[in-house]
Amino acid sequence: MTPPIVLIADLQRYEGQTVTVRGWLYDRTDKGKLQFLKVRDGSGIAQAVAFQKELPEPIFNALRSLPQESSLIVTGIVRADQRAPGFPGGYEIGVTDAQIIQVADEYPITPKEHGIEFLMDHRHLWVRSSRQWAILRIRATIISAIRNWLDDHGYLLVDTPIITPTAGESTTELFEVKYFEDIAYLAQTGQLYNEANMMSFGKVYCFGPTFRSEKSKTRRHLTEFWMVEPEMAFFTLEDLMAMEEEFVSAIVQRVLEKNRMELSILERDTAPLERVVAPFPRISYDEAVARLNRLAAEASDPEEQAALRIEWGNDFGSPHETALAQQFDRPVFVYHYPTAVKAFYMQPVPGRPEVCRSVDLLAPEGYGEITGGSERIHDRALLEERIAQIGLNRDHYAWYLDLRRFGSVPHAGFGLGVERTVAWICGLPHIRETIPYPRMLKRTYP
Ligand code: 4AD
Ligand code: MG
Repeated sequence: MTPPIVLIADLQRYEGQTVTVRGWLYDRTDKGKLQFLKVRDGSGIAQAVAFQKELPEPIFNALRSLPQESSLIVTGIVRADQRAPGFPGGYEIGVTDAQIIQVADEYPITPKEHGIEFLMDHRHLWVRSSRQWAILRIRATIISAIRNWLDDHGYLLVDTPIITPTAGESTTELFEVKYFEDIAYLAQTGQLYNEANMMSFGKVYCFGPTFRSEKSKTRRHLTEFWMVEPEMAFFTLEDLMAMEEEFVSAIVQRVLEKNRMELSILERDTAPLERVVAPFPRISYDEAVARLNRLAAEASDPEEQAALRIEWGNDFGSPHETALAQQFDRPVFVYHYPTAVKAFYMQPVPGRPEVCRSVDLLAPEGYGEITGGSERIHDRALLEERIAQIGLNRDHYAWYLDLRRFGSVPHAGFGLGVERTVAWICGLPHIRETIPYPRMLKRTYP
């Protein structure tokens, strides 16, 4: 009888049975007559023990000289052993037969330390390493949690275009594409189209890659990143915050349910994640500025003082966001930012037009802004005025202004950056490992 082909993740169901596993050689420890092979198959990593006495000589010799990342098929008996290494671990395979599919060339990524640029140049291979494997599995959970939560709460997925004629967010960070005889731009956001779709479906979201030619070389910026953007008719800023805190909590709790093993591979302290439950604290921009200046005054180090001090009207930088977030044990909303630092479409605060009905969500532990949103201007005259003030071409926004002519309603929405969320939940120091193939100021390869 041919043994069943099984996944390493399911080995515990086959204790005492002979099974076949198909995958790649992750690592090998040579003990002469005994070869400890770490085999990975995509679902996990398991130790396969090859014993000279128990194998035909050509097979044992082939295994003994097999280079890292060679592909192979291993058959053997599943044994429970609490000390057996691997993920999920606890079971090993006593090899009775093996077939080598391809003998790999010398693999460039070895267990020793490599520089980050070297690893980035080999990203197509680096994705096989267990840390990267854990991160990208958590990313997949986050994406499915996002979609499931929205689908289950009455939001309709309506796609928005990537090739667009105008700026959606700001004119300074647009990627131009040659579009036949014309110029078009890669979408910075799907929001403006979302607003049109929202008028048809009530509650919608778009989810896709967005593009910004950010010249900033920071650990929080990519030039291509994935954003989910919900947009809701009749929502106020308060409705928006109430929805966002449920949504973000659900995403974090889903990862805690589904990815304990991956979080432990990353050595992520899960205590701060367990605390991510609604409600989240809310502070105004005014209060945030006051808090920062108070912290600056209390700081003993002059450099820290300078980093924290902020004049009313300026946007926050990373040190500001980090310091603000540190004051709370869960994500914190900052609302009513100065109109001048936000996008043209945000509703001014009644009686105080220098601030707008915007809200950013700052993640704990120094991860900064993970969502940005607002109430939108729904009055046509006011929107036209803002478009003119900013110096945008009115004709390009004719269709968007139409939305304010045919049953305009108050509405609100936000965007959540997937990679910032992955960095935060995984506890990563840099955003570059949160996406399979990062695009940054100086990187488009591989
Ligand atoms: O705050 P942003 O620019 O908001 C918008 O684009 C709105 N149109 C969204 C909306 O209301 N529908 O971006 C939203 C989020 C940020 O909070 C951040 O998480 C992420 O997108 N983000 C980036 N992530 C990685 N790299 C970048 N360069 C990013 N820029 C924004
Ligand atoms: Mg923002």
